[in-house]
Amino acid sequence: MTPHIEAKKEDIAKTVIMPGDPFRAKFIAENFLDDYKLVNQVRGMLAYTGVYKGKKVTVMGSGMGNPSMGIYSYELYKFYDVENIIRVGSCGIYTKKLKLYDVLLVEKTYSESTYANVQNENSEIFKFSSKKLNKSIETSAKELGYKINKVTAHCSDVFYKERNKFQFLYQKYKCSCVEMETFALFHNAQLLGKNASAILTVSDSLVTKEATTSKERERTFTNMMEIALNSINK
Ligand code: HPA
Repeated sequence: MTPHIEAKKEDIAKTVIMPGDPFRAKFIAENFLDDYKLVNQVRGMLAYTGVYKGKKVTVMGSGMGNPSMGIYSYELYKFYDVENIIRVGSCGIYTKKLKLYDVLLVEKTYSESTYANVQNENSEIFKFSSKKLNKSIETSAKELGYKINKVTAHCSDVFYKERNKFQFLYQKYKCSCVEMETFALFHNAQLLGKNASAILTVSDSLVTKEATTSKERERTFTNMMEIALNSINK
């Protein structure tokens, strides 16, 4: 047990799939897993462990933002011996080259977050996903017949900005999407010698201001979840 997770060590799988929203973890367990059980309820951050196509997997909410993802991913890697974490989340887009509902695979994330600097005085502004996990995810998407776009993400600590300079980040660092959790996740994986990756579904466009409804998101999110689940042990 840790301050934030009450599960027994043996009740957490080596691979954890993490949506931001704990209710999405419940949705994944109820719709995709066999023999699942609820293994964490501390702070409502629901985690379920079950079986997908014969493989043991845990699905758990990460909460929103680097601090929340930072706590859960650290505890899972360090105290539960988790090897792989795949974030499945939503993102906004910074370019018209992508569109709503596109599924993205993060290769690299840029952030102005202080997370890594505060954590261990690491001053890198880019963090990378696992090449091994990304390969499995690409194979999985191909098998399922879903298109997946490889991107550089912007991992922002601020959702509501007075001035959003996304065009600058798109030009300077080729950030084509924005979300709020990959930087802490990838940093923790790097720190602890583990694997992390992120699959994102586009929920809104900073360029055209289009947005999806929560009902639509629920339906289309399932492609991303299937890709993540089907990638385990590929
Ligand atoms: N900003 C940050 N995170 C997000 C966004 C956004 O516009 N859309 C979905 N996740």
